Amino acid sequence: MKESFQSLFKPFVFANGVRLSNRIVMAPMTHSSSNADGTVSEAELRYYARRAGNAGMVITGSAAVAPNGGFPGSAAADRDELIPGLSALAAAIQGKGAKAVLQIAHGGRKCPPFIPDIVSASPVPEREGAVVPRELAEEETPEETLTPGITLADTLELVEAIAAERLDYLHVSQNDFWSVPNGESGGRTYVEIIQERAGGQIPVIGAGSIRAAEEAVRALQSGIPLIALGRELVMEPDWLEKIAQGRENEIRTTLSRHDQHRLAIPDPLWGIIMRVPGWFPVEPEA
Ligand SMILES: Cc1cc2nc3c(=O)[nH]c(=O)nc-3n(C[C@H](O)[C@H](O)[C@H](O)COP(=O)(O)O)c2cc1C
Repeated sequence: MKESFQSLFKPFVFANGVRLSNRIVMAPMTHSSSNADGTVSEAELRYYARRAGNAGMVITGSAAVAPNGGFPGSAAADRDELIPGLSALAAAIQGKGAKAVLQIAHGGRKCPPFIPDIVSASPVPEREGAVVPRELAEEETPEETLTPGITLADTLELVEAIAAERLDYLHVSQNDFWSVPNGESGGRTYVEIIQERAGGQIPVIGAGSIRAAEEAVRALQSGIPLIALGRELVMEPDWLEKIAQGRENEIRTTLSRHDQHRLAIPDPLWGIIMRVPGWFPVEPEA
């Protein structure tokens, strides 16, 4: 391995003592491939197992924390019957040496219109003509919305709640999310709830169009402790292994139309990737 890439393989320890064996995180990516009842599917297990050996930590695609908070094919984390499947998913990831993190989310007003009881922080539709969501009562948000997922995620080691640009799923204002206590009840904000579970510290994870090893190293040098790879790990499940073996020149940064099975990409995810032009760099037909 090139010496300049060694920083990628430096362990990272969270404040709560959980240790990652390297600095690469698999970014949360919805794969639309869970079973219709929200349980973990075989295709999903194969997809994560194929990639987990190339990350210190795998963050799953978002799992719905309520029956009215999911999308077709998304995982669910809103009831106890789901624990065996989520445990199997954690075991598949941990079996490859990575930590397993469940991303929990509520799709809010972005959920498909056929879902009964679309909710949001205010009765404002996502766009003109979309369903007007029912306004969440104060006791329904935010702690009550997240708690089922957080409790279930105790079967895994860490939990991540979807934030950032996704705030508009529940149409929660940025201020509410980051700093304002929940109403007069002395409740806590999302971040307080998550920080408590994370042992008081949430490190920043850099993400977005990081493809080459050099780019990841530069991001670490800028002071960001962890680097998440999303599309790159879909296209190249052996990313870190190739770097470790000095084969970084063999890292694939495009997707061949013939690679679905080699890459263990489930049918629904493959279909979505192929239908959305420009999202992934798909090689033109030869
Ligand atoms: C197929 C796909 C599904 C995604 N689903 C989620 C998701 O469920 N939750 C989330 O926070 N981000 C999601 N993202 C965003 C990624 O986590 C990541 O931030 C983004 O793809 C940018 O990183 P990249 O350039 O390495 O792909 C998704 C991205 C992709 C490509």
